[in-house]
Amino acid sequence: MLQKRNPANDRLIVNINGALLPRDEAGVSPFDSSVQNGDAVWEGLRLYDKRVFRLHAHLDRLRKSAHLLSYEGVPADELLISELRRTLAANSMTDGVHVRLTVSRGLKYTSGLDPRINQKGCSFFILAEHKPPVFDNSKGICLITSSHCRPFADVLDQNIHSCNQLTSILAKLEANAAGVDDAVLLDSKGMIAETSSTHIFLVRQGCILTPTTRACPEGITRQVILEICQQQNIDYKICDIPSAELADADEIFVTGTMGEITPVREIDGQTLNILSGSLTAKIAQHFRDCTRNPAEGTAIV
Ligand SMILES: Cc1ncc(COP(=O)(O)O)c(C=O)c1O
Repeated sequence: MLQKRNPANDRLIVNINGALLPRDEAGVSPFDSSVQNGDAVWEGLRLYDKRVFRLHAHLDRLRKSAHLLSYEGVPADELLISELRRTLAANSMTDGVHVRLTVSRGLKYTSGLDPRINQKGCSFFILAEHKPPVFDNSKGICLITSSHCRPFADVLDQNIHSCNQLTSILAKLEANAAGVDDAVLLDSKGMIAETSSTHIFLVRQGCILTPTTRACPEGITRQVILEICQQQNIDYKICDIPSAELADADEIFVTGTMGEITPVREIDGQTLNILSGSLTAKIAQHFRDCTRNPAEGTAIV
């Protein structure tokens, strides 16, 4: 699935360290750690009716990522929220908006890797775009299994939600070459981890299965799905899932802030039914209700 250019985003105002700038005039220094080393962490947020869904859970995850990388001078939540507010106001945005909030280790006084040459605290960047869910969730998507693996924490802790997305990009290139929408990455023990940018859930005989987070990040949407299962008395299991189980699933869906809840209609060439009365459809409806519940969001506009 190739995202289309949205002319509504042609005149965006973006936020670079508190400076509000037209998108084509915004720049990030070549001394910034994001450019030098891909040393930055990020969150994808979504705005529903003037509220950012589960904003504090996102900010907590951002802070955890920054902490795992020993960032110094991470901007306070209050500052990030007020800059988010300024950015959305500058773009007159109220709904159907995706925000990429990035915090990097900041500026270096000379080119290099060593974090000791960073002495100015973190940088932050806020990019808000008009962007409805990126997949056509009524049609579903096609996936393949990637040859690339998500590592465990002894190689790179996936709970560092970092801007270094090269494994995901390699998997996406494979998906593109195969003419499908995305790819499932396994962990290095052959268990299902996630896709290039979403969590994955399998449905088998009325029970929902999802992998542990040993080789993928904790997810805000994933957490909502688990809460829905608890509230609705839907059986679920968080467990290691061998890749062979993809072929045995009754339903598969993927979740994330960018695309919400997306059914899978084909996995490795095998067709799956997308039925209106499916468990996936039921969960997607509960998820929609949750995103529109004012108690679930932080008023920002
Ligand atoms: C690698 C990866 N997996 C899964 C997700 C989905 O997480 P969330 O539901 O918090 O958007 C993301 C989103 O940022 C991601 O980058």
